[in-house]
Amino acid sequence: MKHAMPVPHPNPPPQAGEGAKDRCAALPFFLADESATLTLAQRLAMRLKPGMVIYLHGDLGAGKTTLVRGMLNALGYTGRVKSPTYTLVEPYNIAGLEFRHFDLYRLRDEEEWEAAGFRDEFDGRSIFIIEWPKNALGLIPQADVEIVFEILPHGRNVAISSNTPTGRECLKLF
Ligand SMILES: Nc1ncnc2c1ncn2[C@@H]1O[C@H](COP(=O)(O)OP(=O)(O)OP(=O)(O)O)[C@@H](O)[C@H]1O
Ligand SMILES: [Mg+2]
Repeated sequence: MKHAMPVPHPNPPPQAGEGAKDRCAALPFFLADESATLTLAQRLAMRLKPGMVIYLHGDLGAGKTTLVRGMLNALGYTGRVKSPTYTLVEPYNIAGLEFRHFDLYRLRDEEEWEAAGFRDEFDGRSIFIIEWPKNALGLIPQADVEIVFEILPHGRNVAISSNTPTGRECLKLF
């Protein structure tokens, strides 16, 4: 059983200087139900590019894996999208695109990361979608796009932002 933990934003707020121009103000969405999450996932899926890194933040049960399932299904994947809670990563090859879906909730430390060979996973070609990225900060590459889920009594608030030119391009006219 997982235990709820607060989720601080892993990156500092935008600063003047390098990188700041690539950050955009977070785009807010209200997702009334699961189908709204899946619709947002479809829109995002069409904008994914090889090598992109996406962080998914939010408490347990916020809808992160639902969003991943929606993206993979939108690209034509019809199999089951398992939550990689224990395996930490689940690979997919869909329509010629390589995906790595990480759930790092249970990642213990850097030693486990290295032993699992995850460092070599980040080849700049696959699309990386990472739940609980704060557990591996310093080990994973910077996010192009960050998505923060907030659980509401009915539905979810979501904020989407970019940190890089690739992320900015992805969210252009979103
Ligand atoms: N917009 C929404 N409104 C209400 N419920 C939603 C919404 N989106 C997804 N859900 C529901 O939230 C539940 C948990 O979703 P999910 O497993 O995707 O969470 P998670 O963020 O991946 O959690 P974990 O951190 O434990 O992996 C599911 O039952 C899903 O149907
Ligand atoms: Mg999940």
